[in-house]
This record gives sequence, structure tokens and C-alpha cells, in this order.
Amino acid sequence: MIEVKKDMSDIEIENYVNHVLNQMSLEEKINQMKGNGLFIKVIEDRGFGKRAYDAAGSTRFNIPPFKFTDGPRGVIIPGSTCFPVSMARAASWDIDLEQKIGDVIGKEVRAQGGNLFGGVCINLLRHPAWGRAQETYGEDPFLLGEFGAALTRGVQEHNVMATAKHFAANSIENARFKVNVKMDERTLREVYLPHFKRCAEEGCATIMSAYNKIRGKYCGHNEYLLRDILKGDWNFKGFVHSDWMYGVKDTVGGVTGGLDVEMPRARYFKYKKIKKALEAGKVTEAMIDEAAGRVMRTILSYVTKEDPQKYEKELIGCEEHYKVALEAAEKSMVLLKNENNILPLNKNKINKLAIFGKYARVKNTGDHGSSNVSVKEVITPLKGIENYLGDSIEIVYHNGSNNKRPNNLSKEVDIAIVVVGLNYKDEGEYIKEFRTGGDRDKLSLHDEDIDLIKAVAAENENCIVVLIGGSAITMEEWKEQVPTILMAWYSGVEGGNALAKILFGDVNPGGKLPFTIPKDPKHLPYFDKNADEIEYGYYHGYTLFDKKGYEPAVPFGFGLSYTTFSYNNLQIEVKNDKVIGTIDVKNTGKLAGDEVVQLYIGFEQSQIDRPVKLLRGFTRIRLNPNETKNIKIEVPKKNFAWYNPESKSWEIEKIKYTLYMGASSKTDDLLSVQFQL
Ligand code: BGC
Repeated sequence: MIEVKKDMSDIEIENYVNHVLNQMSLEEKINQMKGNGLFIKVIEDRGFGKRAYDAAGSTRFNIPPFKFTDGPRGVIIPGSTCFPVSMARAASWDIDLEQKIGDVIGKEVRAQGGNLFGGVCINLLRHPAWGRAQETYGEDPFLLGEFGAALTRGVQEHNVMATAKHFAANSIENARFKVNVKMDERTLREVYLPHFKRCAEEGCATIMSAYNKIRGKYCGHNEYLLRDILKGDWNFKGFVHSDWMYGVKDTVGGVTGGLDVEMPRARYFKYKKIKKALEAGKVTEAMIDEAAGRVMRTILSYVTKEDPQKYEKELIGCEEHYKVALEAAEKSMVLLKNENNILPLNKNKINKLAIFGKYARVKNTGDHGSSNVSVKEVITPLKGIENYLGDSIEIVYHNGSNNKRPNNLSKEVDIAIVVVGLNYKDEGEYIKEFRTGGDRDKLSLHDEDIDLIKAVAAENENCIVVLIGGSAITMEEWKEQVPTILMAWYSGVEGGNALAKILFGDVNPGGKLPFTIPKDPKHLPYFDKNADEIEYGYYHGYTLFDKKGYEPAVPFGFGLSYTTFSYNNLQIEVKNDKVIGTIDVKNTGKLAGDEVVQLYIGFEQSQIDRPVKLLRGFTRIRLNPNETKNIKIEVPKKNFAWYNPESKSWEIEKIKYTLYMGASSKTDDLLSVQFQL
């Protein structure tokens, strides 16, 4: 007898789904292709967050629905743990930590009643003005892929389906519903898709199509993207669901394009509409069977698996999970400048400390769109410093709105900390109705923040600027006037505690930037937040800076520490299927600390137009003073390939390559050796 039971094998699931498809009416099949959400509920819930959203499933055939909830800052259903945003987590360069975050998220999705997590956001940061930059992992496809895969692994351990989104080339926010992104084949394959491929290979259960168009076709209707590449070339076995309200534009386009499910409810994937298209011969029954089959197969392969544990309500936002959020905040902060070793602070040498800026005292965990994890309380920077210091030092707070008072106050104190940056109004998902988010109009701080920094720095030489935000903030107007700059991101529920531990040296910062900060925004690719059409070129971020010889304000992969590291003895071993780089990394300072060792492959000798170098490996290590570790990073040979649009295949050039290993993408920070493949 064919039935749903625990721990079904792939073959049993396949047989069951085929059996069900034979029994189902057309309407029952089409029911697998839509969410059961009500538009009005979505708006009432403000950001889709109050509960998981049901879609598909069949009571008659004992197939539960999938229950969608969102992220990536954590599970958005109230009470869940609010982590630092993805961009911050990418700055940790710590894959194990991202998997651990995925593990917590997986548990909380289940405890909140969901079984699908829509929060593996891996769009590429092509330009730092992109409003949703904070939801992703930076400018580099390799980094994006590794982080997306780690989050997927963690989440799916708990039989939660992970959705990688938004497929693809969704890197402008305001124009997302209409923009047509043009790009050539190499750019698509080598720059905008590898991270999705990586997540698909990791086994992510579902893919969310993007709102925008690629080469004239909406991504949710894009046969080339969904059928030829994803389901064809990559052999993706899961299902594809649309991005929310506007991800499908018409019935035939969606069904023929390869979209399996319309979310959060059917506007175009309604029974009557699909039936009509079927009768008119514009879609085929095979397409419907394929979509329904994919959905049921995927659901069954998750819900029938034996759970590794129970998922009680007590798990939601529990102490253990907050500890992971704290670790993530500690590991993600990036020290950008630290002249005169102002940091770490020595509390025995401070009598009075002042904290300036409105973001020191308000809840500011990131955007207010679909990634908003609503938490009652967060540890703000001020609260974190107060928690840390207790009564031992006098702390004075000033919101920085009146420049006169800061001047006097900055004179009186030993240390002046200025907390400035962005919030959900400056950047985030653009939701007109809620007046929030959107792409940024400029990359610098607001004028009043720049004035505040200058006013404080003019009177106090121990001025520490703490930046809050989810993307690159340019600093040219003021960076020479302050000795110390720390990128603290939107750092989640425990952010203030992490900040205090870093400022006072209990934690040695080891984060590195997952993007390039330009000196001059003119060095960045063309960006238009209202574009109807835009061409995405092959180069952006560090590959563009390398190619053009532009000097960035801060290079990709850069971050300081309270200790120093030296790199020596770079060696290379070329094997049949991989290249192995090894290097000695030594802690040459006085404090234990973490270092992110990076490996790049250089293509200077290429016969075709290729980047100067590309990130192909990294690892975060911990070293005690004087300790040396021999670090080994492997690069599979397939990661040397380029996509040849003529032969329609990935090819490996037989040329001399350069292997670089070191502390950042900056040439001076890297040792190099050449080798032949
Ligand atoms: C966003 C998606 C999100 C969905 C549901 C959309 O507007 O673009 O990222 O998953 O809403 O919350």
C-alpha cells in the first residue's frame, strides 16, 4: 500500500508522488502551485511577519502544506532571535558560525510552526547604494555562495526547506518590479549565478524567483533561467516559487517559464486561469504535473524525515540562541582605523566617557521590510557600554543634535565615542505603503553626522567613530580627522554587548569587509534606482578596482586587529583535481586574535578578458601571541574555469596562473606564486 510515512526513501517518495498525480484532479494539482495567503492579511500583518504562510499540500493525500516564513536576520515571526544582518555575518568570514546561525534559525522556524525559510538571500552587491545590501553577503560570488550554502546546511538540518533568493540579478531595490537587467552570457554565468549554483548544489530545497527582468523577461517567467539553467544545466530537483505580490505577471508566462508556485496567493495560478490556458493549448498538462510533482516531492522529502530533536516554544529567542547572536556580533565588527592604538580602551585609565549620536540609544537592527525580526528589546551601544562598565566610569550621553554642547562635553571627557550611520529609512526593502527603505541616494553619512564627528574630533583626540549600516559608507570628508573607526553594522539583539567587549578589548576584532569602500563613488558601476533598463557589466567591486587600477578607500577583505600578523613561506602544490596553497601565519603582536586568511587566483596571463584576481578560498583562524599556524587552502580545479559562450561550456585555460594568499584583496597584503595548469 502506498502511503506517507516517516523516513521515506527517494524512491518511495517518487512512487507516491506519481501515484498521487495519477489520482489527482486538475484542480488538486493546481492547488500545489499556489500559496494560500490572503493579500489583505499580508498588509495587515505589516511585513508578512506574524505567522508562517501556508501553500500547497493536500489533505486527501496526506501531504502537509509548506509553511513559509522569512529572514535572513533571523525568523521574522515575533520573539525569534534577531541576529546581525547577513552583511555583518559575511564580515566574520566564519562559515561554521553561519551554519550555527542556520541551525538556530532552523530550530526557531520549527518552533514557530514553519517548515520553509525564505531567508537565504544571496544577491550580489553590485553597487553599495542597493537598498537591500544588508540582507546579502557582499560583492563576491564565491563568498556569497559559501555563506548561502552554510546557512542552507544549518537550516535544513532541522527538516526546514531553505529558499535561496532572489533568482537572479536582483541588485536594485526601488526599480525591482520593473527593471530589465541586460548582461552578456559570461557576466550572467560567472558573476550573477555562481552563488545560486553553489546553493543548489548544497541541496537548497527551493528557489525564489526575482521580481526584475533579465534580458527582457521577468525572472518568474524566464524559461532560460528557470528551465534551461536551473532545472536543466544544474539539475535542480526542488521547486521554484515567486517573490511576493508581483512576481508573476500572467498565467501562461509563469507556467511556461518554469515557475512552480505563485506566492503568497494565486492571482495568476488560479484553477480557472490555468485551466483556460490548458484548453487553449498555451500550457501543457506535463507542465502542471511537473510543477505539482516538484512541490509534493520536496515537501515530502522534508516533512517525512525523522527530526533530530523536538521543537518546543521555549527554543524561540532562548539564552543559547542569544549567545550565538552575541558571537556573531563580536565576530562581525570590522576595525577600519586605529591610530595611536586608541583601542582597546583601558578602563583603569578613564574617568569619564561620552557617547554621542542618536543611534547609540535606539533600537536599530536594520530594515523594516520582509527581513525585519521584531524584538521587544535590543542591547543598544549605550546600554552595552553601561552593562559593561557598571558604575566604574562616569558615562555621559548626548544625542548629538546640538553641536555646541558636544564641543564642551568632548573637551571634558577622556574618550568620545560617536555612534552614527543609517537606519531603516535610509536603506532596506522599499515598501511605498510603509514609507521605508529603498536604495540610497548617497554613500556618505548624513551631513549632521559628519558635522557631529568633526565637532567632537576637533575637541577630543580620542574620538572613536562607530558606524551603523548594512553596506559601504564613504568616509572621505572626515576620516583623516579621527583616529579610530569601527564598522559595527546592524548588530542584532546583543550588538551593544559585543561592541563594549570590543571597545574594551575582551574581544579582539577580526572581521573584514565583504565589499570595497570607494574613495570616489565615480569609481563604482553605473547605478540608477529608477532604471527601466540597465546593463550589468562583468566588473564591479574589487574586480573593477583591480582592472581599472583605482585605489579604494578600504579594500575588499580588509580589517584590522589589536594584534598584528605576518605571512611567510607561501607554497603551492598542483594536483590532478585541485591546487593547494599553504602559508605560515604568525601572530606578531601581544594579544590573541583572529585572522581571516584569503586566497585569490590571478589570471594575468589569460588569453581572454578576465579579472586580475578572484577570491577562491578563505579561512578564519585564531592565533595566540607568537603562535604560527601553517594554513592550507584547497581550490578545486573547476574553480579556475570561465564560461565560454561559444562552446556553451566551462573551460579551464592552460596558462600560468598566480596564487595569492594573505590578509586582504590589496596586493601589498598578499604573497604570490605563479604556477602552470
Ligand atoms: C521580498 C522577499 C520576501 C517576500 C516575503 C518580498 O517583498 O522581496 O524577499 O521573501 O517579500 O516576505
